[in-house]
Amino acid sequence: MITLPPPTPSAALPGPLETAWLALARTETCATADRDALHRLLPDISRLVDRFTTARPDGIAPPYLRTTRDALAYTLYFGPQTYARATQILHLLPPPVAPSAPTPPPPLRLLSLGSGTGADLFALLDHFTPLATPPPPLQATALDHSRAALRLLRDVFSTLRPTRWPAATLRTIPSPLPGLDPAAPDAAPLPAATFDLVSLHYVLNELPPEARQRVLAAAARAIAPGGWLILCDPLLRAEGDWLRPLRAWAIENLPPLALRLPCPHTTACPLGEPCHSVRSWTIPRTLQIFSTALHRDLRRLDYAFLAFQRPPLSPLPAHAWTLSSAHDLKGRTEVPACLPDATTTLLRILHRHCDAPTKKRLRHLDRGTLLLLPADPLPPPSGP
Ligand SMILES: C[S@@+](CC[C@H](N)C(=O)[O-])C[C@H]1O[C@@H](n2cnc3c(N)ncnc32)[C@H](O)[C@@H]1O
Repeated sequence: MITLPPPTPSAALPGPLETAWLALARTETCATADRDALHRLLPDISRLVDRFTTARPDGIAPPYLRTTRDALAYTLYFGPQTYARATQILHLLPPPVAPSAPTPPPPLRLLSLGSGTGADLFALLDHFTPLATPPPPLQATALDHSRAALRLLRDVFSTLRPTRWPAATLRTIPSPLPGLDPAAPDAAPLPAATFDLVSLHYVLNELPPEARQRVLAAAARAIAPGGWLILCDPLLRAEGDWLRPLRAWAIENLPPLALRLPCPHTTACPLGEPCHSVRSWTIPRTLQIFSTALHRDLRRLDYAFLAFQRPPLSPLPAHAWTLSSAHDLKGRTEVPACLPDATTTLLRILHRHCDAPTKKRLRHLDRGTLLLLPADPLPPPSGP
């Protein structure tokens, strides 16, 4: 029987994070009300949104988050989306192996490369903090060439740390991405095997194609045994399905890191179109205002991701990956999916095997949902 993993906890932006961002927006715009602050930042946001869609520069772009105002405008519009995407992806990872008591848990070392103002790093901190009581020590590192973005990240971290991540520390590194410059491959090197999770969230797509492999290789070297490298990017570019060749290159060149998610297999991608997720989420109040003012439909998050792990590999059940939203039919749900044998098929999930909450979730399956497959059937009995 096919089953669903536990539902993703609300990927909505946590209230305290939104409140901290809004407080900084009020200060920056000298506004007393949130709504006024948001309206004053609207032209800056509109300019940034255009930069990521119609006005994309080619090559390695200079920092575009040059001022606190740029960084705030970026954060208020893109931050909630980043936080939700990162949360949805993290939820798919197998939980870290708990250290046997009474050994104190070792610190989890988290790195965001191209962190911007840190929405993906905050999602990492929120994901790992509740996994143990007391919370495991978390060492967060943020690297970006925008000093304004890192300043904002640090401000928000300091505000929220006492109540939200009491066991976390933060280091910010103002620097170009490691591996970027082919003439200086050792510029901004990361120490080898020192991070338990490295996130490259909406960063690689901003680099020229030849630079992506170098940055990915530098990030992979920094992963500690058992650690993860997660890259997530939009695929809505004239450049097309660029993640497919990068995936093939990574499978060939990143070992011992292994591709674990979302693909149920590590052979050639069988899809006839770019693999991506289209996930529902809860739009925060701030973003509803922007979405109306800028005429943007933000009801779904559309993104692609790859998650690699350095051995020892965590157990991960055999799974299928949905390739569209599901059709809810009488007594069954049908959804096309990618399978462990690298084929795609139309899966039929019969409702009579499911409890009521599962049936309800099956009716609203998004594109990019993980389905757990039954364990291999027992081999038929042999001999008399
Ligand atoms: C689209 S933003 C994503 C920020 C953050 N990861 C998120 O998802 O919210 C890309 C970030 O990468 C940074 N970046 C782009 N190219 C870079 C480079 N060559 N060196 C360092 N940082 C870079 C930018 O400054 C920006 O903060």
